Amino acid sequence: MILSKKLRTLDVAGSPLYLGPEVLVELASQLETVFKGKQNIFIIADKNTAQHCLPILLEQVPLLNRAYQIIVKPGEENKTIQTCEVIWNQLAVMGANRYSLIINLGGGVVSDLGGFAASTFHRGMAYINIPTTLMAMIDAGIGGKTGVDLASLKNLVGLFSHPAGVFVWPGFLKTLPHRYMLSGYAEMMKHAAIADVDFWKKLLKMPMALTKTWDDQIYHAALIKCKIVNGDPMETGSRRLLNFGHTIGHAFETYSLRHDESPLSHGEAVAMGMICEAYISYRMVDFPHPQRDELIKNILLNFDHYNIDTSAIDELVEITIYDKKNQNGNVMLTLVKEIGKAIDGQQCETALIRESLFRYTDFRRHIVR
Ligand SMILES: NC(=O)c1ccc[n+]([C@@H]2O[C@H](COP(=O)([O-])OP(=O)(O)OC[C@H]3O[C@@H](n4cnc5c(N)ncnc54)[C@H](O)[C@@H]3O)[C@@H](O)[C@H]2O)c1
Repeated sequence: MILSKKLRTLDVAGSPLYLGPEVLVELASQLETVFKGKQNIFIIADKNTAQHCLPILLEQVPLLNRAYQIIVKPGEENKTIQTCEVIWNQLAVMGANRYSLIINLGGGVVSDLGGFAASTFHRGMAYINIPTTLMAMIDAGIGGKTGVDLASLKNLVGLFSHPAGVFVWPGFLKTLPHRYMLSGYAEMMKHAAIADVDFWKKLLKMPMALTKTWDDQIYHAALIKCKIVNGDPMETGSRRLLNFGHTIGHAFETYSLRHDESPLSHGEAVAMGMICEAYISYRMVDFPHPQRDELIKNILLNFDHYNIDTSAIDELVEITIYDKKNQNGNVMLTLVKEIGKAIDGQQCETALIRESLFRYTDFRRHIVR
């Protein structure tokens, strides 16, 4: 259902997602009505969203001035069970119970972490997401995947638990650093590449640098995510389509977390993963050569190529072997057959993953001129 451009709504796994400039007004009204029974409200934010987004939220939704605040350290390196423990402890000290409400105000790190903390404390409390990054508005904040990393392996511990609502106010993007806008843009390109060729063409016509307002693109991308989640809320089948670029992407992300002082963002890693998986799509499922090159070229126009030398390839392949999406020791990928059409559950030989990484090291030279 769409109300108006000021407040559009989508359904995701039986809960509402609201999007548009009027969203914080809607939230204020729902706290008075829908969530009235919730005695205590806890806002989880990270240091940056506490600085840039929390004051706006408190001004627009005055009722939240009485909420307890839990502020965690920002960044993927803090998406850990240790940070979760800090949250659980604070919830306990401040008297949270099953009838309390948690509000996650932040990017994907806060929604993954806060959603996990909420879903496990007292065997599960209600929570809502207020995403503040492009990534969280179109992907991470939607669909109920919550969790933490373990020993730098991505999202190894977690559970499916859907938020009671998602409130997307694009105004929060004003303070988001460009690098994280880009990170979300990678997922937006991916959503288009797997499910919507017209949206893909629109993105190509309107490059990021020229985009002034994001509301329509966010709506479009969130709609793709909601449709896929609604078709398979627990990822037993078709939801795996969303994983295009993510198996090798997670390997890049884990590798970078281990080795780099300033690690790749999730989106940057997924962008590099899509390059390799586009190549594998071409080799395994006849992804047409010109479309493959168009996809790779557009990634490399927006993202710096993450340089690896060939000695890194063994470790990257090793990480893909431990990916939690694998089955019976086989690496399973989602591949694209053509732009807008993806296919999941493709068993891929490690030799081909290795080959794609070798090719990756010199794609820039071959494709972007
Ligand atoms: N659960 C899912 O379905 C899903 C899907 C995709 C990604 N993810 C996860 O999401 C995470 C990445 O999310 P992300 O890209 O949002 O990163 P993030 O949460 O780390 O946020 C990026 C940075 O921007 C800061 N920030 C956030 N909003 C801001 C704002 N409005 N103004 C200024 N600074 C702001 C944050 O403090 C952080 O430093 C990864 O852990 C990834 O695994 C989860």
